[in-house]
Amino acid sequence: MNYLFVLTFLLCSYGCGCIHWLGLTVNGSSVGWNQTHHCKLLDGLVPDQLQLCRRNLELMHGIVHAAKLTKITCQNTFMDMRWNCSSIENAPHFTPDLAKGTRESAFVFSLAAAVVSHSIARACASGELPSCSCAPAPAEQAGPDFRWGGCGDNLRYGLQMGSAFSDAPMKNSRSGSQAFRLMHLHNNAVGRQSLVDAMETKCKCHGVSGSCSVKTCWKGLNDINHIAADLKSKYLAATKVIHRHVGTRRQLVPREMDVRPVRESELVYLVSSPDYCTQNEKYGSFGTQDRQCNKTSNGSDSCNLMCCGRGYNAYTEKIVERCQCKYHWCCYVTCKKCERTVERYVCK
Ligand SMILES: *[C@@H]1O[C@H](CO)[C@@H](O)[C@H](O)[C@H]1NC(C)=O
Ligand SMILES: *[C@@H]1O[C@H](CO)[C@@H](O)[C@H](O)[C@H]1NC(C)=O
Ligand SMILES: *[C@@H]1O[C@H](CO)[C@@H](O)[C@H](O)[C@H]1NC(C)=O
Ligand SMILES: *[C@@H]1O[C@H](CO)[C@@H](O)[C@H](O)[C@H]1NC(C)=O
Ligand SMILES: *[C@@H]1O[C@H](CO)[C@@H](O)[C@H](O)[C@H]1NC(C)=O
Repeated sequence: MNYLFVLTFLLCSYGCGCIHWLGLTVNGSSVGWNQTHHCKLLDGLVPDQLQLCRRNLELMHGIVHAAKLTKITCQNTFMDMRWNCSSIENAPHFTPDLAKGTRESAFVFSLAAAVVSHSIARACASGELPSCSCAPAPAEQAGPDFRWGGCGDNLRYGLQMGSAFSDAPMKNSRSGSQAFRLMHLHNNAVGRQSLVDAMETKCKCHGVSGSCSVKTCWKGLNDINHIAADLKSKYLAATKVIHRHVGTRRQLVPREMDVRPVRESELVYLVSSPDYCTQNEKYGSFGTQDRQCNKTSNGSDSCNLMCCGRGYNAYTEKIVERCQCKYHWCCYVTCKKCERTVERYVCK
């Protein structure tokens, strides 16, 4: 009975281990992914992900790459925020900022889902995968000044395999409460939708000496930083939801005005976050003491906001740069080393 209680407690307070696969970066980079037993290198893969791995070993390089890219992109995107995504490096073990159904976990799930589908769609187009190739020409009419051609990113295949992989943990009723699973599934879909919305038409010119009299175009994915920026603004505007009966089914509905269903375009969360100003392990808050802040900015990295009004310390740092570089015929460059002093500010 005690055991059951502990289990229930863990599942309820920690949602589910639904992005354990981000920990693939730990062991996943050094393996060939050419034998099915490689799939067991991470205990965090749920049974459906293991099966997908065994049947599609060729996807795994891309998924390991996606896990790395998710970690780097999240940290770059949140560098100027109090919560700076540093705890993602603990994957597959997460602190409460990401293990609970917070706004921050909403962002990370949506980004990870987008990155997985992005990686697969790109890998198709670059010919790395035997199971897919370039996207077929778009259904829409080509314009008067171009024709469809080239090699489009295979978004359809990316979305199909990407969602099979990243949604698998939430399809398993043993991994956490239904509310958390619904939240993560929704946010994964938001991430993938952001990918779809960011498809661009890319073109190449042909014709006599680049006259561009003939143009070939294809649909290509925008780069991940663009998608991360879109998801960050969705993070800032995320909606707190509750899990309750709507008719006969339990659904997630906005907490404030539960008259409307949640939108396809909004990130949702169940658990409010702390302000991340001070250290509190219980909430996964590391605090902003010693974080660098920007004295001239008035955004989230300003000393006022970053330091939560505690003030800051200034110090100077000497940085050495390459300067006065000269090109020598042929073919090398020489530079001098210049020293420059910069002022830095860190939170008290
Ligand atoms: C798997 O890949 C590794 C390194 O890429 C190679 O050394 C090994 O022979 C491969 N094994 C099989 C069974 O193909
Ligand atoms: C990495 O592999 C080792 C040995 O197989 C295993 O003990 C460890 O749990 C793995 N770590 C992760 C994060 O998967
Ligand atoms: C992110 O925040 C943590 C905790 O406050 C800090 O230790 C780390 O240096 C920060 N990383 C960056 C890049 O600012
Ligand atoms: C500080 O913020 C200002 C204004 O946003 C920006 O121009 C500057 O590059 C920032 N400095 C640093 C060191 O990030
Ligand atoms: C900073 O403040 C100036 C003037 O008050 C304003 O024009 C600008 O938009 C602000 N920038 C940010 C990032 O809030």
